Amino acid sequence: SRQPLIAPSLLSADFARLADEVVRVADADWLHVDVMDAHFVPNLTLGLPVVRAIQRVSPVPLDCHLMIEDPERWAPGYAEAGARNVTVHAEACTDPRAVARDIRAAGALAGLAIKPGTPLADHLDVLRDFDTLLVMSVEPGFGGQSFIADVLPKVREARRLVDSGELTLLVEIDGGINADTIEQAAEAGVDMFVAGSAVYGADDPATAIAALRAQAAA
Ligand code: DX5
Ligand code: ZN
Repeated sequence: SRQPLIAPSLLSADFARLADEVVRVADADWLHVDVMDAHFVPNLTLGLPVVRAIQRVSPVPLDCHLMIEDPERWAPGYAEAGARNVTVHAEACTDPRAVARDIRAAGALAGLAIKPGTPLADHLDVLRDFDTLLVMSVEPGFGGQSFIADVLPKVREARRLVDSGELTLLVEIDGGINADTIEQAAEAGVDMFVAGSAVYGADDPATAIAALRAQAAA
């Protein structure tokens, strides 16, 4: 079966101790960094200067999830900062193909995110130009929300398209992933699992990562 990839979300970390919090999840496959601009979503987190600082201390590759307007303008900068994957929201892009091209030209993988209510079918054409698909399983903006299982048919459809060779990308899920929900996401065909509160809310993040990985692989 597929090797599950676990990406702790720094959103649930202690922002006063960022370097320590990054190193605490050194066993992860990726470190998920939520960039919010208070316009695309009703919350404000961090931007390029902080991502550059995180990049300097992170032992694992950065997965930057841009919940921002005007991603055309900002996304390449995150790739130049050293992020391994830079994901933009389909709902915020006027020309997703151009954004993917610019992210790749700046040296990163390109990701496309869709909100829970956004149909996968609306974006199938452009997904040929992306390396990752992030299916949101909560409304973007905040950690600690409940998993929306209604998005799983989109995961199954993406899995089918990848397995049949029509698309070549990693299927990522983000929002409400924990010990109670990761198995259904894995069964639907997710490759890469973002988990914020389930990792940083645990007494020992490393143990939580290992447990999630084992559940997803079962
Ligand atoms: C929400 C963010 C998520 C969030 C997930 O807008 O995109 O990455 O950190 O947090 P949990 O795992 O607590 O739902
Ligand atoms: Zn995210």
